[in-house]
Amino acid sequence: MPQKSTAVSCSNIAFIKYWGNRDAARRIPLNNSISMNLDHATTTTTVAFEDARDDDHIVIGGALANAAQRARVVAHLDRVRALAQIESRARVQSQNNFPMGAGIASSASAFAALSLAATRAAGLELPERELSILARQGSGSACRSIPGGFVEWLAGTESANSYAVSIAPPTFWELRDVIAIVSTAEKKIGSTDGHRAASSSHFLAERVNALSARLARVRRALFAHDLAALGAAIEEDAIELHLIAMTSAPPIFYWSPEMVRVIEAARAWRADGLGVYFTLDAGPNVHLICESKDADQVAARAREISDVRQVIVNAPGGAARLGEEHLF
Ligand code: DP6
Repeated sequence: MPQKSTAVSCSNIAFIKYWGNRDAARRIPLNNSISMNLDHATTTTTVAFEDARDDDHIVIGGALANAAQRARVVAHLDRVRALAQIESRARVQSQNNFPMGAGIASSASAFAALSLAATRAAGLELPERELSILARQGSGSACRSIPGGFVEWLAGTESANSYAVSIAPPTFWELRDVIAIVSTAEKKIGSTDGHRAASSSHFLAERVNALSARLARVRRALFAHDLAALGAAIEEDAIELHLIAMTSAPPIFYWSPEMVRVIEAARAWRADGLGVYFTLDAGPNVHLICESKDADQVAARAREISDVRQVIVNAPGGAARLGEEHLF
């Protein structure tokens, strides 16, 4: 029975990054990663499977999907069709409330929302683990946007045991991610290519070896609400992501002068006594992590930096959920 379904999903910021796969085709990562969902960076997606349709129709942000986006979404719809054993083509419409491809992980919220909306529209009600496994195959980080709050992606060894679980609910800690947006341009090299290139960096093996200790530090700091300990670990991890990217062959520079200026500013505020730490994604924007009591101050200071075009303050977000209002 064809049905229409809408889902809303948060993006997430990784405290320990996913960078490099042991199985690129299935997106089985080299390491566990830990993230926080972002309540103000969401994707809303409506999906309807329609028997009369002879092709999938995909609109993203008001425009028809380009060839690369289309191929990735159709491949994901094919996964859902295979699970539900249906043939119908779909109409898909998707809308972000933040700029796409600029280092706020739009593929995370996009494939999480698509997974939930499409499975429901196809008449499936998957348990959270299965939904996370499905989302992972669309975009690795999307598996972490299925559960709520603070989330760990268990790397696993094969598709069936590579999924994300919530390790603490959104209310567990009043952390904030103040995103300082320095560019809204689409990045030149997407993360999928970055993951592929990572193994050419001779620092990658060293990173993977060091990660179990860092993951433990992040878990401990999170459970203890210890911002200084969390901050030290996430800054190390963010710098390492860029180190691997820059030492890949050919080198990838997500690192930019604007980004470094924001990082330097944050370090100066911290030296002044403000509790703020940075993390980065595969893009130019800087995520300033602080407690809620300091978020206004951090946001105000970020807005004063001339390179910063926009500031988005995020609290820990909830799990992917069904939406009431369809986009079509
Ligand atoms: C730097 O999940 O976007 O944001 O699986 O190819 O879609 P694909 O990659 P993606 O990679 C995210 C990389 C990161 C770190 C992270 O979110 O863990």
